[in-house]
Amino acid sequence: MPLFFSSNMIQSCRNDHKFNNLAICIVVCSLFLFGFFIYSEESIAQFQSSKPKFQENLEELSNKSNGVQENSKILGEHSKNSSILTNLRTQNDEEEEKIELPPESCDLFTGQWVYDNVTHPIYNENECKFLTEQVTCLKNGRKDSLYQNWRWQPRDCSLPKFRPRLLLEKLRNKRLMFVGDSLNRNQWESMICLLQSSVTFSWKKYKKIGHLSVFMIQDYNATLEFYWAPYLVVSNSDDPAVHSNLNRIIIPESIEKHGNNWKNVDYLIFNSYVWWMNSGTMKVLRGSFDERSTEYDEIERTKAYRKVLTTWSQWVDNNVDVNRTQVFFMSMSPMHIKSTDWNNPNGIKCAKETTPVLNMSMPLNVGTDKKLFAIASNVTQSMKFPVYFMNITSISEYRKDAHTSLYTIRQGKMLTKEQQADPATYADCIHWCLPGLPDTWNEFLYTRILSHS
Ligand SMILES: *[C@@H]1O[C@H](CO)[C@@H](O)[C@H](O)[C@H]1NC(C)=O
Ligand SMILES: *[C@@H]1O[C@H](CO)[C@@H](O)[C@H](O)[C@H]1NC(C)=O
Ligand SMILES: *[C@@H]1O[C@H](CO)[C@@H](O)[C@H](O)[C@H]1NC(C)=O
Ligand SMILES: *[C@@H]1O[C@H](CO)[C@@H](O)[C@H](O)[C@H]1NC(C)=O
Ligand SMILES: *[C@@H]1O[C@H](CO)[C@@H](O)[C@H](O)[C@H]1NC(C)=O
Ligand SMILES: *[C@@H]1O[C@H](CO)[C@@H](O)[C@H](O)[C@H]1NC(C)=O
Ligand SMILES: *[C@@H]1O[C@H](CO)[C@@H](O)[C@H](O)[C@H]1NC(C)=O
Ligand SMILES: *[C@@H]1O[C@H](CO)[C@@H](O)[C@H](O)[C@H]1NC(C)=O
Repeated sequence: MPLFFSSNMIQSCRNDHKFNNLAICIVVCSLFLFGFFIYSEESIAQFQSSKPKFQENLEELSNKSNGVQENSKILGEHSKNSSILTNLRTQNDEEEEKIELPPESCDLFTGQWVYDNVTHPIYNENECKFLTEQVTCLKNGRKDSLYQNWRWQPRDCSLPKFRPRLLLEKLRNKRLMFVGDSLNRNQWESMICLLQSSVTFSWKKYKKIGHLSVFMIQDYNATLEFYWAPYLVVSNSDDPAVHSNLNRIIIPESIEKHGNNWKNVDYLIFNSYVWWMNSGTMKVLRGSFDERSTEYDEIERTKAYRKVLTTWSQWVDNNVDVNRTQVFFMSMSPMHIKSTDWNNPNGIKCAKETTPVLNMSMPLNVGTDKKLFAIASNVTQSMKFPVYFMNITSISEYRKDAHTSLYTIRQGKMLTKEQQADPATYADCIHWCLPGLPDTWNEFLYTRILSHS
């Protein structure tokens, strides 16, 4: 592992006082660091979060003003204009407000993708200014847009039409929080767009409190929040801005530090998957980060995953009020790395894909770790607390067309033309364009929340 070389090299550089040797050391170290950079790009850059542009925008907004008063002035105009719009809409839509919810017994996750450019996308990319550059694929140069037009059609029932105000009513005076990694952030951004696109708002504020990003819908006193905790438990990758650390270490029994921030939330949506996929083993710290412990054991990925989810499930069982809060666990969001998985020998990762896999006569294997899936399914079903296991894995496996691919950022910067010409290295086949697939995940969430309250 380069990391060990790294500390040794830097150490020997430091220990050396002779100028000549120091110079050589600097050269060697820089070469090494360069190599490390490349290495880390290949293996983890895709998992990295960028500083969301949305975050910058809103921070800027709140800085310009000196507090609340002026904030509402800036957005006040919006508010007035969109209020008018909404008032007009309300009258026309009153009849349509009635939606039909699917029966409890219907399996929402068995069905098919249907091309439907009338109802999908639910919002337009340029209508949602809160989207980060990571996901605005059209703006970033993607030429095809069919990926936005697929609706999920369950076999035995239908998903209700997405009406933002119905969900907003459920969220009134409430908090909804996504907890997990960048895929959950992907879904959080989708939820913001689904709710802000066609509903009036007085103003919104964004705060950053450590691991937490909060989006406020003032009219409803509701919040949509995202909490960064890629392993759910405490790890050395918990800083939302800095996690290019390849030497990832977790403490599977330690969750309180994060969990304290999840209390008194009304809707909790968890996930944890992609950060487990770097290697077959997981490093488990002996001791704690506070004590600056450095010794760790390496245990099998599946074993560590079960430990972590067990810790998480006990936390939920012991800390969440079943009469107040609904808890969801998102199953694995799949990657599309090998185009032969879907019989396209001429493909390069997901880079050339413009349509979903539509032949569903055979289950698709795109390399999702089914063992982790089984553990998540098993643990969530074995809990005292009724957790809703959101089984999005199979349906998402068909969506080889929906990734951000070459139309995204890497380490905070838009891919260059040269990088775009090298999809084998640079295509991001982990995250998803918006509007797009995560909107469907949120349609499931919407359906469940409306059905169960
Ligand atoms: C906004 O305020 C924060 C903290 O007060 C500061 O760190 C940041 O630089 C400011 N940003 C802008 C764009 O002024
Ligand atoms: C609101 O509407 C007025 C008049 O139609 C227009 O001048 C103004 O630019 C609008 N403001 C916003 C924020 O759209
Ligand atoms: C998840 O859904 C797929 C179909 O999309 C189904 O084959 C599978 O059995 C489901 N798994 C669980 C645990 O619900
Ligand atoms: C929707 O798709 C149909 C069939 O492909 C096409 O004729 C129509 O122009 C499309 N409409 C829009 C708004 O893209
Ligand atoms: C606003 O929502 C919070 C929960 O997010 C709640 O504690 C508070 O009482 C609400 N405020 C009002 C005025 O209802
Ligand atoms: C939840 O509500 C039920 C019925 O009102 C009550 O019996 C139960 O004690 C409550 N549970 C908790 C944890 O408050
Ligand atoms: C669908 O896939 C199956 C199995 O790979 C294959 O036998 C069948 O011919 C395919 N159907 C179509 C319409 O391509
Ligand atoms: C979970 O796995 C355990 C051990 O393999 C098994 O005994 C139990 O029945 C499973 N529970 C569910 C809900 O699948």
